Amino acid sequence: MPQTRPNPLHLAAAALAGMLGAAMPAAAQPSPDAIVDAFEAALGPIRTHRPSHPKGVCAAGHFTATPEGTRLSVAPVFSGQRNTALIRFGVAGANPNASDSARGTRGLSIRFESPSGDLFEMANISAPVFGANTPQALVDGLLSRANDPATGRPNPERAAAYAAYVAANPSVGNQGRYLAANNPPASFATTPYWGVNTFLFRGQDGQQRPARWVFEPRAGVERLTAEQMQSMGPNFLADELRRRVATGPVEFDMVLQFPGQGDDLLNPTVAWPDDRPRTVVGRLTVTSVEAGPGGPCDPISFMILDQAPGIEMSDDPVLQARAAAYAVSLSRRTP
Ligand code: HEM
Repeated sequence: MPQTRPNPLHLAAAALAGMLGAAMPAAAQPSPDAIVDAFEAALGPIRTHRPSHPKGVCAAGHFTATPEGTRLSVAPVFSGQRNTALIRFGVAGANPNASDSARGTRGLSIRFESPSGDLFEMANISAPVFGANTPQALVDGLLSRANDPATGRPNPERAAAYAAYVAANPSVGNQGRYLAANNPPASFATTPYWGVNTFLFRGQDGQQRPARWVFEPRAGVERLTAEQMQSMGPNFLADELRRRVATGPVEFDMVLQFPGQGDDLLNPTVAWPDDRPRTVVGRLTVTSVEAGPGGPCDPISFMILDQAPGIEMSDDPVLQARAAAYAVSLSRRTP
């Protein structure tokens, strides 16, 4: 395992989160604190666990860019040298005891560290799309499920307003439709994990190219059957990963997908068509898994704050809201 040392990006994060929140017009973007307040209102106070993907297992490995990756990004992580990788596989939801057999996304979070100490982080999910098209929609969705303190039940007007929003913005339901049509993975090592948001890759030629990424499992895609969803029980994914890694490395190809004419760069609830150009930009190898819960993933939050030149954030408002909200969440769960 790489050593746990505080991520300097995170040390400045809480302060930055406050500044970003204060700078944003309230009507346009909920502040990072308001976003995390909504998580707490819906899911309970954040004490020790992440409010999203709280169940997980920490692993380690390495990442090396392909020559095509080096050509497409000047970021240190794509230099072609081997980066160490701190990796967290997670199970979505708010329950640290969530069932590994249940429908929902699985997560792949990575902190890359280049030989010269540059850090780059990402958190990916096993669905090509997110369930909110704006940060405000995420907040409204969470608050529609939160109990009203006066009644102890969700506020019916809020719930109706959110239902009307979903009806008027049907792409918000795309993630749910994907998860209904695709059973959960049989292994953390047998599902693709998408970055979902659009990033801007600056290549060696100085050109900036919008792209989304997906980590494709070298072991192929394998999902639970309907019978296995009943029989596998709630806790098999971490041990299954340990057994796999003990007999050989678990690998993923990092693949970039480029948009075509008319593809929406800024809405993470809409996937780009499968026939868009794709290229393999790197290989992630998982070489060890923590023997039990905890480990060096717990005290960090896998979200890039200040992105490496070479992999910059697009104007996707959902992406723009993430780093500061993760920092606030981290500060609340690690007092
Ligand atoms: C407005 C949009 C979003 C907000 C406000 C948000 C918020 C959060 C927060 C507060 C956490 C917990 C962070 C921590 O305590 O360390 C989290 C974790 C996570 N989120 Fe998001 N998120 C957003 C969008 C997304 C998207 C688009 C994806 C998929 C690419 C995603 C994937 C994940 C994953 C995988 C984790 C678990 C990370 C880990 O293993 O530590 N989130 N999110």
